[in-house]
Amino acid sequence: MSGQRNVIVVEPDPHLAVTVEALLSGVHPVPELLAVADVEELESWARPTGVVVAGPSCADKQSLAALTAFRDRHPAVRIVLAFDRRPGAPMRDVVTIGADALIDPTHAESLRGAILRAIDLADGLAAALEAAQEHAAAPLGQVLTVCSATGGCGKTFYATNLAVALARITGRKVALLDLDLQFGEVMTALRLRPQHTMSDVAAIDDEGELGTYLTEMLTAHESGVWVLPAPLDPAEADRVGPEDIGRVLGALQEQFDYVVVDNPTGLGEGTLAALDRSTHLFILAALDLSSVRNLRLFLQTLDRLRIPQDDLSLILNKDQTGVGIDAADIERLFPRGFRSKIPYSRQVPRSMNSGVPLFASEPASLVAGGIVEGIVDLLPQDARDAARELTEVQHVPWYRRMFRPTPAPADA
Ligand SMILES: Nc1ncnc2c1ncn2[C@@H]1O[C@H](COP(=O)(O)OP(=O)(O)O)[C@@H](O)[C@H]1O
Ligand SMILES: [Mg+2]
Repeated sequence: MSGQRNVIVVEPDPHLAVTVEALLSGVHPVPELLAVADVEELESWARPTGVVVAGPSCADKQSLAALTAFRDRHPAVRIVLAFDRRPGAPMRDVVTIGADALIDPTHAESLRGAILRAIDLADGLAAALEAAQEHAAAPLGQVLTVCSATGGCGKTFYATNLAVALARITGRKVALLDLDLQFGEVMTALRLRPQHTMSDVAAIDDEGELGTYLTEMLTAHESGVWVLPAPLDPAEADRVGPEDIGRVLGALQEQFDYVVVDNPTGLGEGTLAALDRSTHLFILAALDLSSVRNLRLFLQTLDRLRIPQDDLSLILNKDQTGVGIDAADIERLFPRGFRSKIPYSRQVPRSMNSGVPLFASEPASLVAGGIVEGIVDLLPQDARDAARELTEVQHVPWYRRMFRPTPAPADA
């Protein structure tokens, strides 16, 4: 952080600057020393971070007021008043300037100590300011919402595994929010014992406070995913309104790269609130007629809500043959097609009953492959390669995985 260690002396008499230079000669790293004649000239200072040493000529009411205004505009600047006499201004003006010290400049050791302390404070402030700016500039996380027109399509299975897959593939910060407020199953599917749930977090209506306490109210899953489960008591669901959902999602987006949202079936007001914040929507369907019929209505409603087509993907779950309808039949009805097809597998209910997500225990399974297929195009380039490597492993036929080719024996 070069350039922040500036010390600028404000005094027409050059003696003070010479004294300060001598006092700081052994300091490491050496601060950059500048000198100006009066407070007005300070305004031309290009890098207003560091320490202002104001000499005795600044001890009048007008200069103190100008210094106060300067400090207010540049909060990372610290001020040392080097006055050898009581200033010709009320003590109140000296106090409002927020100076770090009022020191007689003829006391060399005290002046040195005061300037060094102010340099430390200025360094700290500059670092904090930089961090705050970086934070403010950080893009908001993506909100990936999982929903479906019919129950039992596998939303909770998909949402939990999607979150685990994102954490594993991208290594970025992932949160999982259960908006199935009455009968949420995320907690069971991940075998968690949460201290706090969505109803506790939604009760914090001050955005600043929410940002401060949010992370400690989430429950960590061993995969690295941070979970905010649905309330333990279904009666508490009523206490969470759509505005609360928007506010909590906003706070999660500020702190996480990905926020995966599990939803109840259909398009209730909670899901609509999540849609407002969503960057991508995964709509699940299964292989049955009611799923297909309701999917059409669901898509028509989303169209009326003007959800951009590019921001939604259809996922076919429980794909299998021999149930009287297959993926090709549905694809004829929905020409946009499915972003991925996840096979029917008994591994899924088994994993949900045991509380260990399938993506964590069987990342090389076809089910996990289907999940990766659904997100790979939405990932940053570096993570796509990692995701494809995973899928490639999955597509090696089982017999090749079991019987690795042995090198041909060398000719005798
Ligand atoms: N691909 C799959 N293969 C087999 N069973 C599945 C699959 N996906 C989900 N299931 C099972 O279907 C049931 C409903 O899944 P769930 O995720 O709870 O659906 P939803 O949240 O949409 O109501 C669960 O018993 C789950 O284990
Ligand atoms: Mg569910």
